[in-house]
Amino acid sequence: MTDDPVILVTIDDDPQMIDFITDTLAGEGVEILGETDPSKGLELILRHRPAVVLLDLMMPHLNGMEILEKVKEAVPDAEVALLTGNYSTESAVEAIKMGASDYLEKPISPQKLRKRIGQMIEAVRQRQQESTLEENLAKLSIFEGMIGRSQAMQGLFSRIRRLAPHFQTVLVTGESGTGKELAARALHRLGSKASVPFAVCNCSAIPESLIESQLFGHVKGAFTGAAQAQVGIFEYAQGGTVFLDEIGDMPLAAQAKLLRVLQNREIQRVGSPATIKLNVRVVAATHRDLRTMVAAKQFREDLYYRLTVAELAVPPLRERKEDIPLLVRHILRRFSQEGTKPISGITRRAEEVLAAYPWPGNVRELENVFTHACIEATNETIDVRDLPSQRLQTVAQPTSFGDTRDPQPLKLEDLARWHARRILERLAGNKVKTAETLGISRSRLYSLLSGGDLEAEPDNLDVGKSAFLDFDSDPSH
Ligand SMILES: Nc1ncnc2c1ncn2[C@@H]1O[C@H](COP(=O)(O)OP(=O)(O)OP(=O)(O)O)[C@@H](O)[C@H]1O
Ligand SMILES: [Mg+2]
Repeated sequence: MTDDPVILVTIDDDPQMIDFITDTLAGEGVEILGETDPSKGLELILRHRPAVVLLDLMMPHLNGMEILEKVKEAVPDAEVALLTGNYSTESAVEAIKMGASDYLEKPISPQKLRKRIGQMIEAVRQRQQESTLEENLAKLSIFEGMIGRSQAMQGLFSRIRRLAPHFQTVLVTGESGTGKELAARALHRLGSKASVPFAVCNCSAIPESLIESQLFGHVKGAFTGAAQAQVGIFEYAQGGTVFLDEIGDMPLAAQAKLLRVLQNREIQRVGSPATIKLNVRVVAATHRDLRTMVAAKQFREDLYYRLTVAELAVPPLRERKEDIPLLVRHILRRFSQEGTKPISGITRRAEEVLAAYPWPGNVRELENVFTHACIEATNETIDVRDLPSQRLQTVAQPTSFGDTRDPQPLKLEDLARWHARRILERLAGNKVKTAETLGISRSRLYSLLSGGDLEAEPDNLDVGKSAFLDFDSDPSH
């Protein structure tokens, strides 16, 4: 809490009144700026952005109500009180409706003035204290660029902190868009010396025939087309970290080679008998259920056990909805910093809509939806109308299913599609198994998956995903 004086601006065409206010409030922890000319007074307010404003109601040219309106626009948090010699209940109600905090009748005793202004100052101090608390909480809720105040995320942060200095291999699991790559980078940064490389390999994006040479390098002439010797990702990352993204998509042959590398901590370039000692830590990530893949013989069991010695599970956003307001603020801040246009906040109603949606595409989907809302917004504050309501409502909580009081009850077909997509994801994209599990034909499944305007499939929401192959040495320590 700050003990700086609260700035109070008072405008009254009667200079004696200004003197009276200044004398009465001396020693109350306020710095008082008085002005008898209403237009100049308004300028004073715009320049100093006072926390408290005292306005005479009847003044020539610009009256108190007009100033009130302008102050509420420019300094919405300011506590404004009106003072008048012609008190009436109607005008008091009118002023309160327009955002005034108090409406005082002249003449006013020094005691009463001190009491009523004291209440306004107290409200200001309280808000200052709350915003300091809020700031402190926000500081605790950000960890290596990851935001989360939920217990689940706080637990993840502390596991990352504890694992980072010690791990050789970690598996990061979690649905698409939950922040697996951010977690991998945090593990790298916290556990390595500055300026060692963080090398990313997206296993799903490299053709099967090239993956070994991408990972381990090759010598000149190792295969047709190998005109030059090439250093692989592991060698490049010496001293640092290799991030194997989408490890579930790695072909079985490459999995066998990777296992040997993890066991022996050495590599051979393709076509070379020489071994190279490795000092590299490995973070692998996947949105697939590797256990199911092991059962289906799509993933090597021995590699699975090697990788799961240390496992970090990033929780889906729907299980930590209390993080949504903070994430939204973070996205807002980033959007404002880009300077495209000023967006100052979000209405409570809009926040409720965001909280009700299950976010199958997780934080990435929230980022896309909300950034889009900022771009499209007509006002400075994001409201429900700026959100893609159809998308957010159609897939929203299957709990509302069957509730006819709902303005837009969920259609059965949409619910079926939502369910099918979840099962498909759980079964690692295996459509045959999914159809079997759901007890429907494959063609019915295909028509379900392709139908509708639902964009719930995380793949469709994939903006800014790592490129084919992306080397990234990370000096930001
Ligand atoms: N806790 C978080 N705080 C702030 N931003 C986050 C958080 N989690 C994710 N993001 C943002 O969401 C987007 C997706 O994150 P990331 O790429 O790490 O997810 P992922 O789990 O690797 O997804 P995929 O499985 O699709 O590769 C990124 O833009 C990232 O910055
Ligand atoms: Mg990723």
